[in-house]
Amino acid sequence: MTALAILGGTGNEGAGLAMRWARSGYRVIIGSRAAEKAERRAREMNVELGADLLIGMANEAAAAAADIVILSVPYGAHAPTLRTVRDQCQGKLLVDLTVPLQPPEITAVNLPGGRAAALEAQALLGADVAVVAAFQNVSAVKLRQLDRDVDCDVLVCADDADAKSTVLELVTAAGMRGVDAGPLKNAVAAESLTPVLLHINRVYKVRGAGIRITGLDSAV
Ligand SMILES: NC(=O)c1ccc[n+]([C@@H]2O[C@H](COP(=O)([O-])OP(=O)(O)OC[C@H]3O[C@@H](n4cnc5c(N)ncnc54)[C@H](OP(=O)(O)O)[C@@H]3O)[C@@H](O)[C@H]2O)c1
Repeated sequence: MTALAILGGTGNEGAGLAMRWARSGYRVIIGSRAAEKAERRAREMNVELGADLLIGMANEAAAAAADIVILSVPYGAHAPTLRTVRDQCQGKLLVDLTVPLQPPEITAVNLPGGRAAALEAQALLGADVAVVAAFQNVSAVKLRQLDRDVDCDVLVCADDADAKSTVLELVTAAGMRGVDAGPLKNAVAAESLTPVLLHINRVYKVRGAGIRITGLDSAV
C-alpha cells in the first residue's frame, strides 16, 4: 500500500486531502513539527471517518516512512520545513501545494525569488527528488466536505512523467479531475491563480471559488 506523508497535515488544506486519501485506501501519515499534535489530529480524523485509518508523526519521521511526501504549509514555513526533511525525501516524490502568498496582501500575486514555490522546492531538495506541483487552487473548505466531489480541476505540473502520472492518480482518488499542466516551471501560473481566486471569493462573497478547464470533453 502506498504511504503518503502530509507535512503540515494538521492544518486546513492537508486535513481534507488526508481524509480523502485515507478513505481511498492509501496509508496516510499526518506530519507536524510536534509529534503529539500530529497524533492528536490523526485521532480526530479517524473519529470523523469512523475508522482507524490515519497515524501521526513528526515531519521528519513521517517523510522517512512515506513513499510520497506532500508539503502543505504556509509559504513562510516552506523552505524551513523542506530543510528538515531533505535527507528523508531523497529518491522520492514530493507534491508541493504551497502558494507563495505574502500576507496580509493575499489577493495579489507574489512571485517569490525562485519564481515558484515548487521550483524553489526542487532547487532545495536536489535532482533526486521528483517535485510535482498540484492542488494550489483547491479550497480547503471544499476538501473538508467529504461527502462531495470537489468542483475544481487540479493543474498538475512536473518534469518527471511517471511522477506526474502518480499525482494525477492521487487527484482522482481525492475526488477531483487532474489536468496535465506541463512542466514544473508552469507552477508559476498555477500558484499565481490562487490569489486571483481569493480575490474572487472576497468580491463575490463566496467560499472556495475554483477553476475548470473547458474543451476537454472530446479529449482522447
Ligand atoms: N487553505 C486553503 O484553502 C488552501 C488552498 C490551496 C492551497 N493552500 C496552500 O496550502 C498550504 C497550507 O495551507 P493551510 O491553509 O493548510 O495552512 P495552515 O493551516 O495555516 O498551516 C498548515 C500547517 O503548517 C504548519 N505551520 C504553520 N506555520 C508554520 C511555521 N511558521 N513553521 C512551520 N510550520 C508551520 C502547521 O503544522 P504544525 O504546527 O503541525 O507543524 C500547520 O498546521 C499553503 O501553502 C496554502 O497557500 C491552501
